[in-house]
Amino acid sequence: MLVVKNVSKIYTNNKKAVDNLDLEIQKGEIIGFIGPNGAGKTTTIRMITGMIAPTEGTIEINGKDIARESVEAKKNFTFVPDHPTIFDAIKGIDYLNFIADMYEVDLKQRKEQIEKYTRAFHIYDALGQTINSYSHGMKQKLLISGALLPNPNLFILDEPMVGLDPHSAKILKDIMREHCERGGTVFFSSHVLEVVENLCHRVVIIHRGRPIACDTLENIKKSSSATLEEIFLEMTKDE
Ligand SMILES: Nc1ncnc2c1ncn2[C@@H]1O[C@H](COP(=O)(O)OP(=O)(O)OP(=O)(O)O)[C@@H](O)[C@H]1O
Ligand SMILES: [Mg+2]
Repeated sequence: MLVVKNVSKIYTNNKKAVDNLDLEIQKGEIIGFIGPNGAGKTTTIRMITGMIAPTEGTIEINGKDIARESVEAKKNFTFVPDHPTIFDAIKGIDYLNFIADMYEVDLKQRKEQIEKYTRAFHIYDALGQTINSYSHGMKQKLLISGALLPNPNLFILDEPMVGLDPHSAKILKDIMREHCERGGTVFFSSHVLEVVENLCHRVVIIHRGRPIACDTLENIKKSSSATLEEIFLEMTKDE
């Protein structure tokens, strides 16, 4: 579903933010992408989503190269960024219809999906209000609902739990599981290691731009009884 080959990113200030990353993610997997602040998670996600170009390497989504076949590749995923900018002078429902138009979601599916996700997140009754009246968490839930409504093959999220209350975080976790059970794939970054530990089939750990682990939790733990937090702290500690 997602193949990242030899990807590196050097920013114009010569900062090497990602160094030779390889990833292969299968359909139906939930992948947790973790690493300390500044490790290169957002940079990687911005390259996967085609927002910035890698300095080296290639990225394919469902067989489509994000650089060469960007529109075809982009039809396969939706993305919830960490610091979204959203047109907030429009109503919530207009935002969702705009996303549905972009992804060519038919009227029946869009009505069902909008209702399903916005009711689950308790924002259905606010859809007639302009987005600038929403709280931070309501905006986040609107963005997540919009990203789910096209039923994407690949659902990418950068730190989605930030700003969500415990009820909403639980709903999002359940939705991620359900999405994968239906054959979808989820790739998300997080600092909430308990969520990653409980939810993910595989975990990718990045440190100073380098992938230092990409495996199931059992294999990463190597039969020790340590928690993911203990392993993470050990693997990424500063010498
Ligand atoms: N536009 C940019 N220009 C130059 N350097 C950048 C730019 N964006 C990010 N960096 C640098 O690249 C490195 C990786 O940043 P990135 O935002 O990918 O980290 P992250 O893992 O998402 O961190 P966090 O957990 O804090 O969100 C950091 O050293 C950062 O300072
Ligand atoms: Mg980040």
